[in-house]
Amino acid sequence: MNALPLVAVTSPLPGSPLAMFEGRARVRVFRATGQRSESQVIRCLRGAQGALTLLTDPVSERVIAACPSLKVISNVAVGLDNVDLAACARRGIVVTHTPDVLTESCADLTWALLLGAARRVVESDRFVREGKFKGWRLDLLLGTDFRGKTLGIVGMGRIGRAVARRAAPFGLRLVYTQRTRLPESVESALDARFLALDDLLRASDIVTLHCPLAPATRHLLNRERLRMLKPSAILINTARGPLVDEEALVEALASGALFAAGLDVFEWEPKLAPGLKDLPNALLLPHLGSASHETREEMARMAVADCLAVVEGRAPEHPVPSEVKSEK
Ligand code: GLV
Repeated sequence: MNALPLVAVTSPLPGSPLAMFEGRARVRVFRATGQRSESQVIRCLRGAQGALTLLTDPVSERVIAACPSLKVISNVAVGLDNVDLAACARRGIVVTHTPDVLTESCADLTWALLLGAARRVVESDRFVREGKFKGWRLDLLLGTDFRGKTLGIVGMGRIGRAVARRAAPFGLRLVYTQRTRLPESVESALDARFLALDDLLRASDIVTLHCPLAPATRHLLNRERLRMLKPSAILINTARGPLVDEEALVEALASGALFAAGLDVFEWEPKLAPGLKDLPNALLLPHLGSASHETREEMARMAVADCLAVVEGRAPEHPVPSEVKSEK
């Protein structure tokens, strides 16, 4: 009789999805959380046929070479920049991810940052707690309105579009950019106008990033492009930290070249660029885009289902799209 396949899970999972492995796979769960090195990931995955990994686990060429029994890597995330997709493809390892399920949660969190940065919500909360609120004033902690302004969306994929769908009630005009222009019917349904990136940066009052991290998008917002933003603009990043030159961003926020930023992700996550945490006009969250009970449990369920599919010889439902493969 064949032994059950071994699956390595690099972190405890929320909710009950681990129970799906019962009677179908042996499971090795790693309890330690936090950033892991390649060597630590190798120790987790060695000998396993299936792996559930987090976006903080570097699944590099070295890791893959050291774990030759792997058939599938199910990344519990939509982003795949932590996985060397080309190396997996060369060794016939299937890679899966968790698209769609987290789209609405990430779009909601993007709006939380948008509103929080525009109306200085966290800075104002701190002001009250520190006992600085001495009475109502006409000029107290003024922010900026949305009505009649322009929201620039960089990357009109699933999350970018979900952010766009929430814009109309705020009276925002929409512009967007990405590698390939959307069909006219989609543009008109979203009421969004296509612009080249540099034009979008100059035209927008708020810029929000929703593109994948790939070699071509690292420092997409470099120092020169950050200078194209209006001094009254707000920059939101819920995608990946290295899309922005964070040191240049700190300088722009500190010098008044940029009104505010709302960041859920950081260039050297979980470390912050020097000076970032001292800036009152930077609203900072610890990578919470998909962090609701419902969404995280569903992400885990999808990853377990796809991992089981591959180790049991079936096709997974959420393999890496070919468009992402070619980006790496
Ligand atoms: C979160 O950042 C994800 O990629 O799922």
